[in-house]
Amino acid sequence: MKKIVVAVDGPAGSGKSSVSKHVAVDLGLKYIDSGAIYRAVTLFFLEKEGALAKGSDLSGVLEKINIDQDFQSDGTSKTYLNGRDVSDLIRDESINKSIGIVSDDRRVRDFVNSLLREWAGNGSIIMDGRDIGTVVFPGADLKIYLDASIEVRAERRILEYRESGKYLDENEVKNQIILRDGQDGKRPYGRLVRADDAIYIDTSDLNQAEVESMIKRLVEDKTA
Ligand code: C5P
Repeated sequence: MKKIVVAVDGPAGSGKSSVSKHVAVDLGLKYIDSGAIYRAVTLFFLEKEGALAKGSDLSGVLEKINIDQDFQSDGTSKTYLNGRDVSDLIRDESINKSIGIVSDDRRVRDFVNSLLREWAGNGSIIMDGRDIGTVVFPGADLKIYLDASIEVRAERRILEYRESGKYLDENEVKNQIILRDGQDGKRPYGRLVRADDAIYIDTSDLNQAEVESMIKRLVEDKTA
């Protein structure tokens, strides 16, 4: 297969990571989860400072942060913060509440972006996030923008939490997503926006397997 860089962007709960992981396994691409890096940086600050407020000084700390990610051929993705496996911890609701402050910071974004480009190397990858097709890899071979209604996205998140034994209030999850949509859509640099050349897929009425086969077909067309 020809080398390919696939960028998958979209709002929280649009299904980017589940779909991208499966496509990666089925087509032998490396999967890179950019949101997990922002989550790990947020965890670092929360553990260090206890809380994060708008205007928090994030300078001088990034060099103390070492993040690694390991994608296995069985589709599992692990994220390590200074050598510690934080894959579960970074999915906690407390991270979602503070992450906007971290991902608004330009120095954090530059730090994450250079890590992402380093991990991508020269191989075939599928990377998901908010600004992959616009900032990280504006020259990506294939750009996908995944979307879904707020109701569907909230429902998916609730199901995900339930599967890991957590029961959250539906309205709380919905409000949290609306808040993150707002933050992700209006930051001055690296905001969530559909690239002009991205293929838009509304997944509200599609199941995961349907979305995966659409994307696999697009990848195969590009690499044929
Ligand atoms: O994709 P995920 O929900 O894990 O992303 C968590 C958060 O990380 C997003 O809400 C956003 O604030 C930030 N993020 C970002 N740019 C990316 C990926 C994630 O700002 N490329």
